[in-house]
Amino acid sequence: MLTQAIKRIDHIAIVVRDMEAALGFYRDVLGIHPSRVIDFPREGVKIAFLPLGGPDGSEIELLEPTDQTTGVARFLAQRGGGLHHICLEVPDIIQALADLRAAGAMLLDEAPRPTADGLGIFLHPKGTHGVLLELIQRETRVS
Ligand code: CO
Repeated sequence: MLTQAIKRIDHIAIVVRDMEAALGFYRDVLGIHPSRVIDFPREGVKIAFLPLGGPDGSEIELLEPTDQTTGVARFLAQRGGGLHHICLEVPDIIQALADLRAAGAMLLDEAPRPTADGLGIFLHPKGTHGVLLELIQRETRVS
């Protein structure tokens, strides 16, 4: 079991085929304005961050594949996009990794990986009852 309390839902990631078309809904219809739109070559994606609820809130992240060899690109090809993962924020990712390993959780990472927001690890959907789950330790919190 985790020996620390999960802080909040950090983000929900949605894979999209066309970022501008997706923003035509999330930004222009729902009115959630992106705080940033970045290229993140390490994961082969463009990311739009759509914050909700202020500094202690959550984000919707829209992911558009920019590299056709990545898992996100395969997800888009196979499923046509949609909900990709949910991310929970923890205070200490190293401790979380150790706790999850001890609990026999189905980890997809041997060590925390640099993400656009901090350091993250992923858990296989088979071990989480159907959803790809990310845990993150934020390096900095934008307030
Ligand atoms: Co994520």
